[in-house]
Amino acid sequence: MAVRLVYSIGKGGVGKTTCAAALALQSSVRWRTLVVSLDPAHNLGDVLETRLTNKPSGLSSNLSASEVDMEAAISRYLKQSSERLKTMYHYLKVINLEGYLDALRLSPGIEEYATLQAMEELIREAESDYDVLVFDTPPTGLTLRVLALPRVSVLWGEKLSNLRREILDKRRTLKNIHGERKFVVDNTEHRLPTEEKDDAVMQELNDYVSRMSKMAALQSDATRCRVMPVMNADRLSLFETKRAFAALEGLGMPIGPIIVNKVGLQSTDAGSVEQIGKELRRSVRTIPYYQGELIGREAVEEFARHVDFSQWIPGDTV
Ligand SMILES: Nc1ncnc2c1ncn2[C@@H]1O[C@H](COP(=O)(O)OP(=O)(O)O)[C@@H](O)[C@H]1O
Ligand SMILES: [Mg+2]
Repeated sequence: MAVRLVYSIGKGGVGKTTCAAALALQSSVRWRTLVVSLDPAHNLGDVLETRLTNKPSGLSSNLSASEVDMEAAISRYLKQSSERLKTMYHYLKVINLEGYLDALRLSPGIEEYATLQAMEELIREAESDYDVLVFDTPPTGLTLRVLALPRVSVLWGEKLSNLRREILDKRRTLKNIHGERKFVVDNTEHRLPTEEKDDAVMQELNDYVSRMSKMAALQSDATRCRVMPVMNADRLSLFETKRAFAALEGLGMPIGPIIVNKVGLQSTDAGSVEQIGKELRRSVRTIPYYQGELIGREAVEEFARHVDFSQWIPGDTV
């Protein structure tokens, strides 16, 4: 069976990591499970009381965990992009690619693309070794932008393909009038491609659009993917969850019941939990607030006893 995905999503501090760890522990009773933190402010290792790295470490026979090194992921993303640009535009010696990449590192959107790429790589790698892949995500804003990227990128990619097609059309017309254009770079002769099948840029665009379409389809496939929304019973958490739901529904992502965590803390009461279910029009599962520290596997297992986390595992019946 193909690996199934669970995204633990919510505001910073509500309990995303604790819930992701709890779900992973429960899931590992039946399934080969990998839980990965994509949050640049990792605390999955702290919660599980182990030192985690970029490579999955085995915590038990059925459970592994890792924390993605986001700085390294960004560097890898930029390096791969530059390699691709260099092979595609080897004749454009005039552009200073290195300077361009330095600027790109700080550009808006890079963190999102790098996170998406890390996610894609993890899904690919998990395909053969795991049944369930749990993502402990960055706080909501960044996560939603990452999840929206595949769809946005398909639209952009298709527009760029159309532009490229027009360029190739014009090139063909010129070729018919002036003959084929050749040029020499580093003692090698190149021809300017005029057909889609010979054009590296067009091929790159086609690959990109198909990769992004695949990712978008996976994210909206209820048999493969599910969001586990985590929040606390306060107004700010409610407002943010409402906005997140609007975005996730727009992307067609399957959303499981809402976890209202830390119930009993300060101002929260049963009334407001009921209110949350009504306002968000979804079923709610509650987890009480604990005194003391929630660290280590035993504590997380105890925490996990409050809800049946299998209801967020796609393909499992509720
Ligand atoms: N039900 C709970 N009762 C008491 N403390 C909790 C509960 N759930 C989470 N916490 C604590 O709240 C803090 C934030 O939880 P964490 O899972 O790291 O949130 P996030 O990943 O969303 O930032 C941690 O110190 C965690 O131990
Ligand atoms: Mg966290």
